[in-house]
Amino acid sequence: DTPLRTLASADGRQIGVAVADNRLTGSTAYSSLVSGQFNSVTAENAMKWDAVEPSQGNLNWAAADRLVAFARANGQVVRGHTLAWHSQVPGWITNGGFGAAQLRTLLQQHIATEAGRYAGKVYAWDVVNEAFNDNGTRRSSIWQDNLGDGWIADSLTWAHQADPAAKLYINDYSIEGVNAKSTALYDLVKSLKQQGVPIDGIGFQAHLVLGQVPSDLKANLQRFADLGVDVAITELDVRMQTPSNATTLASQAEDYRKVITACRAVARCVGVTVWGLDDADSWVPGVFSGYGAATLYDENLQAKPAWAAVAAAF
Ligand code: XIL
Repeated sequence: DTPLRTLASADGRQIGVAVADNRLTGSTAYSSLVSGQFNSVTAENAMKWDAVEPSQGNLNWAAADRLVAFARANGQVVRGHTLAWHSQVPGWITNGGFGAAQLRTLLQQHIATEAGRYAGKVYAWDVVNEAFNDNGTRRSSIWQDNLGDGWIADSLTWAHQADPAAKLYINDYSIEGVNAKSTALYDLVKSLKQQGVPIDGIGFQAHLVLGQVPSDLKANLQRFADLGVDVAITELDVRMQTPSNATTLASQAEDYRKVITACRAVARCVGVTVWGLDDADSWVPGVFSGYGAATLYDENLQAKPAWAAVAAAF
C-alpha cells in the first residue's frame, strides 16, 4: 500500500502524527510507521514546558531534540507543541508564588528559549493552546488571570522574535464547527491581523466523537482561511465506546474521510495530524472513560479501516 505521506505529499499537504518519546525510542515497529507513513511529527508531550524545564533553570531537551533529529533524518517537518498553555505548566511555576510581572518575564523567557533553540528547525509552533472557553470567553489560566488579554499577542510576538521563520499558530479544541468558541477565536484573529501581530495559522485539534464530524467543518476552515491565515487539523482522533466492532470501525473510517476531504477542499489547509499513532498509545482511554479505539492503528499496530479511508481521501 502506498504510504500516507506519499499520498499527502503529492497533494502538497502534511499528514502528521503525535509521537510518544518512549515509543519512539522503545519500539522499532512504532518508529518505522512514524517515519514511513507521516511527513510531519508533533511531540505528544516532549516540548511542553513541564517536560523541558522540570525545575527552574534545569533544562531538559533530550526528548525534544530526539524528535527533531528523527524528523530531520526522515524528511519530516516538526510542529512545535506548545509554548503557552494553562496545562502541563511546571509545578515550580504554578506553586512558585510569582507575581504578574515575574510570570510575564518567565513566559517571555520560556518562549524565547524554546522557540530560539529550535529556530529554523520547526515548521510551525502552537504558540498559544486552548485559550478560550466554549462560550467564547477567555479561559481562566495562570496567564489569562495574571497577564490579562494581551498574553496571546505578546506570546505570538515573542515567538516571532525567537524564530522569524516558524509559522505561528493558535490551537484549540471544539472549534471545528461554527460556534461561540470558534467565532470568538475568529474575532481575535481578525483583530490580531489588524494590529499587525504575527499570526500565521489556526490549529483545529479535532478530538472528535464517533459520528460527530461537524457538517460545517469545511466552511469553518474556509472562513478562517479567508482572514489570511493557514489552517490545520492538529490533533485528530475519533473516539468511540470500546470495544470497537466492524460497524463502529467503518463509521470511524467515514469520519476520518470527512476530515481529510474538508481539509483538501480548503486551499490554505496545510494538513492533518492524528493524535497518537495507535490505539495502545492514545490519550483517549485515560481521559474519556469507556472510550478509545480513536486512532488509525490498533493495539497491535495493524492499520484499521480509518487508515484506508485516509489513504483513499488523499
Ligand atoms: C495530551 C497527551 O496526549 C497526554 O499524553 C498528556 O498526558 C496530556 O496531554 N490537547 C492538547 C494536547 O493540546 O497537548 C493534549 O495531549 C491533548 C489535548
